[in-house]
Amino acid sequence: MKKVIITGSAGFIGFHTALRFLKEGFEVYGIDNLNDYYDPNLKEDRNKILEQDKNFNFIKADISKVEIKNKYHEINPELFINLAAQAGVRHSITNPEDYIKANIDSFLHIMEFAKDNKNLVRTLYASTSSVYGGNIRQPFQESHGVDHPLQFYAVSKRTNELMAHAYSNLYGTECVGLRFFTVYGPWGRPDMALFKFTKNILEDKEIDVYNNGNHSRDFTYVDDIVEGIYLSSISKKELIDSSFDSKDPSRSFCKSIIFNLGRGKPENLEDFIVEIENNLGKTAKRNLMPLQPGDVPDTSADISGLKDFSGYEPKTSIKIGVKNFIDWYKEYYKVNL
Ligand SMILES: NC(=O)c1ccc[n+]([C@@H]2O[C@H](COP(=O)([O-])OP(=O)(O)OC[C@H]3O[C@@H](n4cnc5c(N)ncnc54)[C@H](O)[C@@H]3O)[C@@H](O)[C@H]2O)c1
Repeated sequence: MKKVIITGSAGFIGFHTALRFLKEGFEVYGIDNLNDYYDPNLKEDRNKILEQDKNFNFIKADISKVEIKNKYHEINPELFINLAAQAGVRHSITNPEDYIKANIDSFLHIMEFAKDNKNLVRTLYASTSSVYGGNIRQPFQESHGVDHPLQFYAVSKRTNELMAHAYSNLYGTECVGLRFFTVYGPWGRPDMALFKFTKNILEDKEIDVYNNGNHSRDFTYVDDIVEGIYLSSISKKELIDSSFDSKDPSRSFCKSIIFNLGRGKPENLEDFIVEIENNLGKTAKRNLMPLQPGDVPDTSADISGLKDFSGYEPKTSIKIGVKNFIDWYKEYYKVNL
């Protein structure tokens, strides 16, 4: 049975990813420190579901500590998927040091492990659409410049991409970086818009709508994200970074590649809110606000690279995806409407 390490397994995307790899017959080693960035009960509850599977092994640990490498070697996986991180654009403005530890130190330990371990075939890691920063050319393509981050979260994720490139260039380490675009779905994060809007509408509180609602987002349902992760992990295609200068001598050795992982169909924030209202049967009280510092007005993903590499084809519309989230929310928080 193939072994995979999934960091951040008690997190939103890590949980869904772990379920999928269990279903595909992997022995899954989930690592998470269950920190309190948001309600740890939600993480514990996700973890309880995973622990019902005999092929799931949970390790509570902080992956920013260098000793974690010993654990990685002990497990000796074929595949490594790094989904643990300090997420959140806004938190990075007030707490940049959290991102150095959770996102950069941790990734260094993973790269060092990948360099030294002979059994590991491929490392996948989460990057973000935020690396496109102030870019206005849409849809975002992997070949576009990413030198204008608008906040430190984006800096930490872009740093991961550069680290993967350097390690791959030096040691031939296979790395696939996936730039996720606004992920939503059941068991979602309480600090993200869909969760906050749903909660506030149910409690008759105002919802803060930034940039006066003039946002569009390439909202991507979590099952599509997981499909993209899974297909990237099994693709047998050669890892060649098309944004790379073909004359670069390191190209022959470097096996680090980056893809957008989105739906490829941006939606207006207002349409997303209307979908929530329809499902709740209630109208939101909109508090129109200016653009938040560090926020990007619009995101749109060109997903042709990942389609070519893996056959990825997103399936879920916001109509279905928002309904699934709200059905889960009502059941989990025992809401009777
Ligand atoms: N959700 C999105 O829309 C989105 C968009 C772009 C990128 N991403 C990236 O996808 C990944 C998963 O995001 P998510 O939405 O599931 O977030 P999440 O916060 O729900 O999950 C991250 C998990 O990592 C764990 N973690 C954090 N620091 C750790 C550490 N030092 N040691 C061990 N565990 C640690 C947390 O406890 C949490 O359970 C992250 O890298 C995030 O930056 C998410």
